[in-house]
Amino acid sequence: MTQAAPPHTAGQQTPARKAVIPVAGLGTRFLPATKAVPKELLPVVDKPALQYIVEEAVRAGLAELLMVTGRGKDAIADHFDRQPELEAALEKKGDAARLIAVKHASELAKIHFVRQGEPQGLGHAVLQAASYVGQETFAVLLGDDIIDSRDRLLERMLDVQQRRGGSVVALLEVPRQDISKYGCATVDRTDEDDVLALSDVVEKPDPDSAPSTLAVIGRYVLSPTIFAALRDTPPGSGGEIQLTDGIRALIRAGEPVHGVVFRGRRYDTGDRVDYLKAVVRLAVEREDIGPEFRTWLNGFVAGGG
Ligand code: UTP
Repeated sequence: MTQAAPPHTAGQQTPARKAVIPVAGLGTRFLPATKAVPKELLPVVDKPALQYIVEEAVRAGLAELLMVTGRGKDAIADHFDRQPELEAALEKKGDAARLIAVKHASELAKIHFVRQGEPQGLGHAVLQAASYVGQETFAVLLGDDIIDSRDRLLERMLDVQQRRGGSVVALLEVPRQDISKYGCATVDRTDEDDVLALSDVVEKPDPDSAPSTLAVIGRYVLSPTIFAALRDTPPGSGGEIQLTDGIRALIRAGEPVHGVVFRGRRYDTGDRVDYLKAVVRLAVEREDIGPEFRTWLNGFVAGGG
């Protein structure tokens, strides 16, 4: 009798097809705006941040999505559901463009929901996906982290995972003083440009003692072995169950964990300044409103208001 290959063995598994999007966080950095409105629904120009992320997952071939939500986040499910009254009103007005936009959000993917109960950290949020994911490799996309659609990070990570097995995280070079906001990776080179092998990862290190300036950002392709690791992970930084600590346990168990270094455009829309940068950048590039906004912005920057 042949034995099934362990889930982290390279080249012997089906490609990831499920994505988990945690959206249950409290969004405290953006209060009071996020008191009643989920931060993941804050508009970036005229589309909620979360829709960019769902579109990215679908583009990468992940058509089965699970959102990990919490109390006060019902508007998220509403956004990705049909809105027959609104659709009828737009149809009556003959507003075809907006009708397409409204329908598009509900036709993007098959989206499932699970509740986190209490926001006990990102690792705890991912753990809620265990029965949905089963024994498959899967992706995690953070619900407030936008990767510009021209910079194909997730596709690259899925490809690296297929070839090398195990799990893959996304890494971003950050200024040393900022590394204390992130998980921080200790790495070795591989024979591939921009692909590094992780030998350790630590959550929110002190900048002075941080092992590197490579931050783990909001895209992951994970082996299902992460669930057992997270079940054994005690609360860490901030009293929360950290995904970083679960990944560290995988490394210590000898599983391959690689990092893809990202050099493209990324916006943490849960951070106020990064959010503003995302809105401005994506607005000036838009064909419809871009020219008018750019003219105003140039005048504003030149001091004309
Ligand atoms: P963040 O750490 O940015 O979210 O988590 P937060 O805790 O809401 O942010 P602040 O610091 O209070 O402003 C990244 C993603 O993980 C989700 C968040 O919703 C966000 O999309 N998350 C975080 C959960 O789903 N559950 C948690 O317990 C924590």
